Parts: sequence; C-alpha cells; structure tokens
Amino acid sequence: MKLFDVYPLLNIHPVKAQGAWLWDDAGNRYLDLYGGHAVISIGHSHPRFIKRISEQLNRIAFYSNSVQNHLQQQLAGLLGELSGYADYQLFMVNSGAEAVENALKIASFVTGRKKVVAFRRSFHGRTSGAVAVTDNPKIAAPFNEGHVVEFVLLNDIAGLRAAITPEVAAVIIEGIQGLGGIFEPEPHFLEEAERLCHENNALLIVDEIQSGYGRTGKFFAHQHTTVRPHLVTIAKGMGNGFPVGGVLVHPGIKPWPGMLGTTFGGSHLACAAALAVLEVIRDEQLVLHAQQTGDYLLGRLKEIPGLSEVRGKGLMIGLDVPGRMNILRQHLVYNKRVFTGESKPDTIRLLPPLSLSREQADLFLDAFAESLVETAKIPLGS
Ligand SMILES: Cc1ncc(COP(=O)(O)O)c(C=O)c1O
Repeated sequence: MKLFDVYPLLNIHPVKAQGAWLWDDAGNRYLDLYGGHAVISIGHSHPRFIKRISEQLNRIAFYSNSVQNHLQQQLAGLLGELSGYADYQLFMVNSGAEAVENALKIASFVTGRKKVVAFRRSFHGRTSGAVAVTDNPKIAAPFNEGHVVEFVLLNDIAGLRAAITPEVAAVIIEGIQGLGGIFEPEPHFLEEAERLCHENNALLIVDEIQSGYGRTGKFFAHQHTTVRPHLVTIAKGMGNGFPVGGVLVHPGIKPWPGMLGTTFGGSHLACAAALAVLEVIRDEQLVLHAQQTGDYLLGRLKEIPGLSEVRGKGLMIGLDVPGRMNILRQHLVYNKRVFTGESKPDTIRLLPPLSLSREQADLFLDAFAESLVETAKIPLGS
C-alpha cells in the first residue's frame, strides 16, 4: 500500500532526538526551532517523559471512559493549578481539531445557537466545524459548508461590534494566530470581544492549541490580558508529541451524561504523558524560561538587518522575509541544519521547545544571520 500523499516532505529521516536536537539516519544533527509544529514543549525524549510513559505502559495503557481513571483527575488538578484555571472543568480529547470541535459544540449546546464569529487569517483545524471557522477556503470541502460563520478582521473593533449579536453562539479566537503568521489580538480587542460576548450571552472560546502551555511566557497567551474565556482549547504542547488535547470549560457550564464523548480521549497513557509534561514545566520553570529566552531572541532578531518585521511573544516568533521564505528555510535546513516553520507567503515561524537554551538560541541567530547573507544573491521567489 502507498501512503496517501498529502504532505510536501523534506528529504530528511530523523531517527533520534534529544532536547532541541534531532539526528537523521546519516548521523547529521539538526537544531529544532520548529518543535514539530509547536508540539515539543519540554524537549524531545525528556527522561521524565520517557520514564512516566514507560511505567504507565507497564501498568495499564488504556481503558475506555466507562471506568474511574484517577489519572484524569490528577491531570485536571495539576493543569488547573499551573494554568490558573483551578475552578474550570477539563474534557479530554486526542487532537487540536477535536478540541475545537467540542468547544464549538459546547457553545452551541449552551446557547442553543449556531452562528460563530471567527477571524481573518485564523486556523483552527480540519474537521468540519474547525475548518469552517478557519479562514482558508482551499482546505474546506463542499461537505464542510453550511456552518454559519462570520469572519472579522483581527483587531477591527468596529467589525467585532457589528458581528457579535444575540444570534451568536461563540466567538473563537487564537491566543496568538499561529499558522496565519504570528499575529496577536491587541489586549483591548480581546477584552472587548469578552465584553460583547457577555452582553450578548455568547461564549468566548480562546484557541490556545499553539499559543498555550507556556509558549508565550504565560501559561496561556490570553493571560497577557485580563480575559477569562468560557472555553479554552489545548493540544500540541500538552503531550510533547503524545496525541492529547482538551477543552477547559467554565464552571458555570453544566455537563450532562452523554453530552460529549470519545473512545481514546483521556486514556491512562495520554494522562501519564500530559502529567509528565506539566511536572517538567513546573519543576524546570519552563514558562519563565520561554519568556526570558523569547525576549532575548526577539531582541537580537530585531537587530538583524534585512528583516522587514519581527513579531511574537516568548517562543512564538514570526520573521517576515518577503519573497525569501522558501529559499531561507531550505538553506537553513539543508546548509545549516536548522528546522524552522513557515507561514505563507512570507513568514518564517519559530516554535522551538520551551527548554531551548541561550547557547542554542545563539547558534540559531548565527545560522540565520549567515543564511540571510548567503542567500542574498539568489533571485527573489526562487
Ligand atoms: C491554533 C490551532 N488550532 C487548532 C489546530 C489543529 O490541531 P490538530 O492539527 O491537532 O488537529 C492547530 C494546528 O496547527 C492550531 O495551530
């Protein structure tokens, strides 16, 4: 059987990884400034992650959500404590799109409404509801049509005020837009979205799948503001590569038996992985570390000539390189052995493990500055 060929692949075969390093099958070492798409939070192959998952695997890996699983409670407890949402409830799923899908569903159940307000340049996933609130018609199939969604420009307060009416079930917004190119909602914009949601009895969903779990120097990116959303979606960094996601649900929202469900969500193994991640984030102070390393990287990047814009917070950084994104990323990976992410058409995205060291940040800065010079003569758009 052949693979269903939907991914443009780099010609690299990673076989081993440690912290912010990866090795390919020829023994070459790569610096990971991409984190496998913001997934690697505590670093590749962290010993505590391996230990906890291995021990759990030797006890029990899975049983369905028809029995007591004290690990789920333990995870909810620690997540509540570290995130500042101890009074919220956790619904566990397996991926980001599934978290978004369930958050939208909760909002619709609670309000009895269908309409959702989303934002230009958003990305929330590829399942039916998630792709409907994603601003990219190219990845939506005719089957995904029929949802009632209004897109508003990010930071357009007048547009926001016009869109949030008593027909709206939810407003969904990324803590910081990721795939769209690292664009932040301004604090007063997010706060106004929250106010309008309250005024119209709609629910505010903040999608922290990419921007959460310490990446921006707070546990959640929206915690740089005063906003407390009704629903927060999480995935990516939550499992450091183990597929796990979740929805944080406001205490005022009451569940009923059968309201939501999933076979795999919240398995013993997923909880062990997610607990290991949180314990490492706490014990190694990775949220503070992400803020400090991020401030350093952002400061140094802003000094590099030839970058038209540097955006972001903590270790969620976008570098605008008009016409040169492909050339630079290829040069970085094949000549300097550095992985980076992209956001079409012109942005290089940095989403390294939160544990990235100062020395590794310096290695990246040198490789990037050199790549800018070395690729300067290659024609634009190559
Ligand atoms: C903000 C955001 N929401 C949702 C998703 C979808 O997550 P998944 O690919 O796990 O379904 C992503 C993935 O990139 C994302 O960045």
